[in-house]
Amino acid sequence: MLRTKIAGMGYYVPEKVVTNFDLMKMMDTSDEWIQERSGIIERRYAKKHEETTSTMGAAAARMAMDSCGVNPEEIDFIIFATLSPDYFFPGCGVLAQRALGISKKEIPALDIRNQCSGFIYGLEVADQFIKTGKYKNILLIASELQSHGLDFTTRGRNVSVLFGDGAGAVLLQPTEDDGKGILTTHLHSDGTEAEVLSLINPGSHSGYHLGKEQFGYPDIEYGGAFITDKMFNEHMLFPQMDGQAVFKKAVTKFPEVIHEALKAAGYSTQDVKLVIPHQANLRISQFVQRLLRLTDDQMYNNIQKYGNTTAASIPIAMCEAKQEGRFAEGDLVCLAAFGSGFTWASALIRF
Ligand code: ACO
Repeated sequence: MLRTKIAGMGYYVPEKVVTNFDLMKMMDTSDEWIQERSGIIERRYAKKHEETTSTMGAAAARMAMDSCGVNPEEIDFIIFATLSPDYFFPGCGVLAQRALGISKKEIPALDIRNQCSGFIYGLEVADQFIKTGKYKNILLIASELQSHGLDFTTRGRNVSVLFGDGAGAVLLQPTEDDGKGILTTHLHSDGTEAEVLSLINPGSHSGYHLGKEQFGYPDIEYGGAFITDKMFNEHMLFPQMDGQAVFKKAVTKFPEVIHEALKAAGYSTQDVKLVIPHQANLRISQFVQRLLRLTDDQMYNNIQKYGNTTAASIPIAMCEAKQEGRFAEGDLVCLAAFGSGFTWASALIRF
């Protein structure tokens, strides 16, 4: 039976480091508040006019391809996960394809919109295509450029201090080694609380979900659908979050979906060398670690230096964990994510 293995990994983070003290110059916040609530010390911000979600994604992809000696013309399929695309459309998949110079074979590029769970959603999609023998080299990219769209005034501080920019990528290939590769994946979603963590505007909802008065949609039959004066004037063009609601749901769903993966593959938490959770918030990860009774050696965190890079956080963390020797060939690694939607997911991998 064919399985999917992670043949190559790469990541890219912008050069610019932004500390909590830098943010204190823009809004009423403190290093103490941010560290206490989220564990974040610093994050990276992309260079305006020079870096985008797709260029960072392409940089991570180049590293992933180089790490396993695959060249761009060998890629059969691109999957690109992000919540912060360069354009409303087309998606970042084709932009990364262009940036990587993959043009001769006119391969498909798929965009995934599952926020913090996007990487694992992409992994399961890729896994199906590889297991059926359809594709042999799939490039899965996850990249986020959040800093250009955050509210850096005190009004937006509950969200803006948490997020950072960066990208990660993996090169996926088939293996006939039955004990190796992606052992199981589990995806979930529940849209009943879709707006709890969201970027509502601009969008094509025209007030359908939350009321046209709230966003100032004019009563005209055509046009004027995406952005209104009210959205500009009343600062409605930024992400919003009910942090406590997210926290509560996250600390339930992370352990649930990790247990689900372990059970499906016949393992227990003791068998896992490393859990790499989506880097949502250090406090969430610590809570989950306690609930699962994992040792410090079994839990990977790097949110302290990158903030929450949403879809990109797992591949960045996985790449760094490998470089740091936190797992090696033969080890069992569990990936888990929870985020906006709500969506959540897990994957168990034998390296
Ligand atoms: N600096 C200083 N004060 C702040 C900041 C800030 N950056 N942000 C909010 N505050 C203030 C609020 O205005 C409020 O002040 P008030 O009491 O005078 O009204 C006070 O701090 C408490 O605000 P809460 O929103 O209730 O803060 P809470 O203690 O819940 O902490 C936090 C907020 C850190 C977001 C917390 O709810 C949390 O950890 N939630 C989890 C959500 C999360 O981490 N999301 C990450 C992205 S989602 C994901 O990836 C799945």
